[in-house]
Amino acid sequence: MDLFEYQARDLFEAYGVPVLPGIIADTPDDVRAAAEKLGGTVVVKAQVKVGGRGKAGGVKVVHNPDDAADAAKQILGLDIKGHVVRRVMVAAGARIEREFYFSVLLDRANRSYLSLCSVEGGVEIEVLAVERPEALARIEVDPLEGIDEAKAAEIARAGGFPEDLIAKVAPVLVKLYDVYTGEDATLVEVNPLVLTEDGRIIALDGKVTIDENADFRHPNHAALEDAASADPLEEKAKAANLNYVKLDGEVGVIGNGAGLVMSTLDVVAYAGEKHGGVKPANFLDIGGGASADVMAAGLDVILGDAQVKSVFVNVFGGITACDAVANGIVGALAKLGDSANKPLVVRLDGNNVEEGRRILTEAAHPLVTLADTMDIGADKAAELASK
Ligand SMILES: Nc1ncnc2c1ncn2[C@@H]1O[C@H](COP(=O)(O)OP(=O)(O)OP(=O)(O)O)[C@@H](O)[C@H]1O
Ligand SMILES: [Mg+2]
Repeated sequence: MDLFEYQARDLFEAYGVPVLPGIIADTPDDVRAAAEKLGGTVVVKAQVKVGGRGKAGGVKVVHNPDDAADAAKQILGLDIKGHVVRRVMVAAGARIEREFYFSVLLDRANRSYLSLCSVEGGVEIEVLAVERPEALARIEVDPLEGIDEAKAAEIARAGGFPEDLIAKVAPVLVKLYDVYTGEDATLVEVNPLVLTEDGRIIALDGKVTIDENADFRHPNHAALEDAASADPLEEKAKAANLNYVKLDGEVGVIGNGAGLVMSTLDVVAYAGEKHGGVKPANFLDIGGGASADVMAAGLDVILGDAQVKSVFVNVFGGITACDAVANGIVGALAKLGDSANKPLVVRLDGNNVEEGRRILTEAAHPLVTLADTMDIGADKAAELASK
């Protein structure tokens, strides 16, 4: 789960990371009041879980409460890369001398942690990593040893910090690492970490991703969940007890078993390259019992996604045999009636496959195409989605 900047700020504060006061608000009047309370220069910052807010006009520096309210009027409701701004944080203004970058994250490929650090912060780090990779230090962090002051100094030095700042910045990096381990995070990123004109190191922005698998250890994390902006399709799937994850593409995917569905996503993405770059629209594992009800619930969620152009049902009959799945599909289509309005490619294999195919062939539903193999099915579904 990604946190909002203000939630990251609060966690930082709780761990002793230096931050500036910030007040959360969702109307221009509340923003004016917050700016009055903070006094002086403030920064009105869009609270959305996506990067590049500044560039999109979501971060504005203002010098009095009326201007703060005006900035809020412009920022609230703004669409930043598909995320609509519902709240802003009014943060005290910092007098910035220099901007740095620091992060620590889970490095899955190396089964380790990785710290990234640069004295050239404030800019988009993805751009820096591509254009001037030498300016972005990558230091492995042993999860068993973590980041103590010596390690923090090593990281800061590698990131290009001048000697006179290292003793000042190292304790802050140690505290950021405390946030990372203490909250079971998979990412703690500060961009920018700044040196102020009066010589203080402050985290001016924060991105934290929390590992939900560790929620049982953190009763406080439930409160961090953002019910308001949860994806409506994911909510619907959750209510129907389905294992569904919304993705960005056009080909809806239904399968049984997480492994099969994962490989189906790969195969669809691969096939999609030949058809104008169409991609999977979702992950949906209907598990063992592919009854008509479960199939209908699954199709209902997928067909409710306006981005979906075709659906690929990829089922390997095991304990639930293919004939039961085929009956499930026929029953689901009957149940959904006119709301089933996108082509379905069905690939069945495994237990009782002949009977399953016979049922679908006999039903001869105009939207359904049978495919013999997973590759053929993926290709057909991608082709249909590209039309
Ligand atoms: N409290 C503050 N006082 C003064 N300047 C600030 C403050 N917060 C942010 N800024 C300035 O605005 C810039 C952008 O802010 P921030 O890093 O929070 O947003 P962003 O980087 O555009 O968004 P994202 O991190 O989502 O990409 C900073 O690099 C900094 O120069
Ligand atoms: Mg930033």
